[in-house]
Amino acid sequence: MPQWTQIVRKSSRNKEKGTMASPVALILCLFIYSVAGQAPVVTVVPRSSIVRHGESVSFRCQVESGAQPIQMEWRRANNQALPDNIKTGPDGSVLTVANARPGNQGQYRCVATNSAGRGTATAVLNVKFAPRVRLIPEGPLHVRVGEHVTVECRATGRPWPALMWTRQGSTLQLVTTATNDVNVIQWASVRPEDSGVYVCQAENTEGVTEAKIEISVEMEPGAPLASVSTTEMTVVEGRTVTLECQATGSPPPEITWSKLRAPLPWKHIVVGGVLTLTEVGRQDSGQYICNATNLHGFSEAYTQMEVETPPYATCLPDQVRLRPGDALQVQCLAHGTHPIHFTWSRGSRGLPAGAEATRDGRLLIAHVKLSDSGTYKCVATNHISSSEAQAKVVVKA
Ligand SMILES: *[C@@H]1O[C@H](CO)[C@@H](O)[C@H](O)[C@H]1NC(C)=O
Repeated sequence: MPQWTQIVRKSSRNKEKGTMASPVALILCLFIYSVAGQAPVVTVVPRSSIVRHGESVSFRCQVESGAQPIQMEWRRANNQALPDNIKTGPDGSVLTVANARPGNQGQYRCVATNSAGRGTATAVLNVKFAPRVRLIPEGPLHVRVGEHVTVECRATGRPWPALMWTRQGSTLQLVTTATNDVNVIQWASVRPEDSGVYVCQAENTEGVTEAKIEISVEMEPGAPLASVSTTEMTVVEGRTVTLECQATGSPPPEITWSKLRAPLPWKHIVVGGVLTLTEVGRQDSGQYICNATNLHGFSEAYTQMEVETPPYATCLPDQVRLRPGDALQVQCLAHGTHPIHFTWSRGSRGLPAGAEATRDGRLLIAHVKLSDSGTYKCVATNHISSSEAQAKVVVKA
């Protein structure tokens, strides 16, 4: 308290001079006034805090200056009563949040009061929590073919959760409209094959939460309903693949197969709803559509097929002639399903000292020596198989 020391010094100087009593009294009055006249100045420690759901935290309100006695009190910044899990200590200076819950997030104000007035300071509490998800409508939904259907997935959570919709039993993320805390799945005109369970998943650093809705699309009696035995499949190049489609309906629907945005592969046969593709190649990857049609309408079912290919390696160049001191660079290239992993070797001895093989399949030697001559082998491997290629290196003076 600078004022205090200043005043004391002044008064003692006056005493030394041994002058009249009245200035001493005046100064004493000033002194009492200056302390009594100061409203409290307070700060809070910490100023802000981030806790997880269920954790505890305390904020302390400390007096920087001001005349005693000072009374302290904590309030919510919006002046609402403190929730039951938030308590203040006996002298009012410490605010303790036990077992923090999302609703505790906000500002808390320490109010210090004395005879001269009051001072305040504010603490900010942030509470992180795992997502909570709500679907609107909740479901189950019974709708008729051709109706417009919208389901909103609303989530809360801190940090804000990421939202996505999938169909139960599938990992494919569905195309939806998302804005901040809402992700909407909708059908302009719902079809029988859209019947099923849909899952909205919300994820943040605190956890993952799901909400499900069952949608059943009621059909006209007799209308076709197509279904495929597998919706996603991965096959290796060269294999023969059969895709099965079944359909209910009356009269029995006619089944046709097509490929999305492309004609069916040349080597295909359709017999009684079964599509057989022989010797599939990479270009045959894509979405295959089964269409069941009768006089009441049509129904589609989809199979997504990915064709994986073994690697096929080549070296570029495959022969090199160099002089001692030249730089060597050979690239190993490979076609096939990624990821592809490359390894270089020379004979059974591995690579000579000074040779470097990079992750993307290059073999490098900054300055070749006569002893670096030889046949180098590159092996390209993916999860199906591996393939070898060779490069012949001749170093001559
Ligand atoms: C399925 O058949 C219906 C009726 O014949 C047709 O309108 C529809 O475009 C077909 N869908 C596909 C993907 O070929």
